[in-house]
Amino acid sequence: MTSSVMLGLCLVFSLSLACPAGTHAQQIKPIDLPKPQTDLGQPLMQVLKDRCSTREFSPQKLPLQVLSNLLWAAFGVNRPDSGKRTAPSARNWQEIDIYVATSEGLYLYDAKAHRLQPVLPDDIRAMTGGQPFVKDAPVNLVYVADYSKMGDSTPEDKMLYSGADTGLINQNVYLFCSSEKLATVVRGLIDRPALAKAMKLRPDQKITLAQSVGYPRK
Ligand SMILES: Cc1cc2nc3c(=O)[nH]c(=O)nc-3n(C[C@H](O)[C@H](O)[C@H](O)COP(=O)(O)O)c2cc1C
Repeated sequence: MTSSVMLGLCLVFSLSLACPAGTHAQQIKPIDLPKPQTDLGQPLMQVLKDRCSTREFSPQKLPLQVLSNLLWAAFGVNRPDSGKRTAPSARNWQEIDIYVATSEGLYLYDAKAHRLQPVLPDDIRAMTGGQPFVKDAPVNLVYVADYSKMGDSTPEDKMLYSGADTGLINQNVYLFCSSEKLATVVRGLIDRPALAKAMKLRPDQKITLAQSVGYPRK
């Protein structure tokens, strides 16, 4: 290899490393979600009766209204006066961020604005889990704990509370999916270092779990 070719390769490599997430994100736009439909739903006992994990997904995409309802049910703002949410969180830290991986790209759910903020223009669905069905689901939610919001609690407490807080959110998703006849499964089997790198997370952002959502395969 000549020295000029090597120089060129180094330049491309260093430019790609230096490229911040925001530069890529300009290629996909924010999505304003429609107002959530809070008058939907089956009776609670029926929803609990039907709740289950499903690992076979139709490739059919979720309509934007369904995605809006899903994210609001998961961890939307249900009391605008206080900014509190549909799931509780330890000390109201609200430290769990929901990233939404779709075929169009990766977004961050901004609950206050009820909007999807662009993160990456890439389809990283297959990287959100180690099981083959993961790439088929139209939506993979990735739950990320932002340790910077958790005060000066110990590392053990941060892990414990962010795990518990994630569980409360993913149960909301299970209940919504049960009510709306959607398929879902929460997942811990994740190559976290690889996914964190692909998502360009900071060191104090920790992936807790992921959850696939879609229509059940017929
Ligand atoms: C914390 C947690 C992690 C899980 N991780 C996975 C996973 O990586 N892959 C998977 O297919 N299911 C996973 N599951 C789903 C469980 O396997 C499932 O809930 C269990 O088999 C009971 O089935 P049910 O949800 O239909 O009641 C996980 C569940 C929980 C609560």
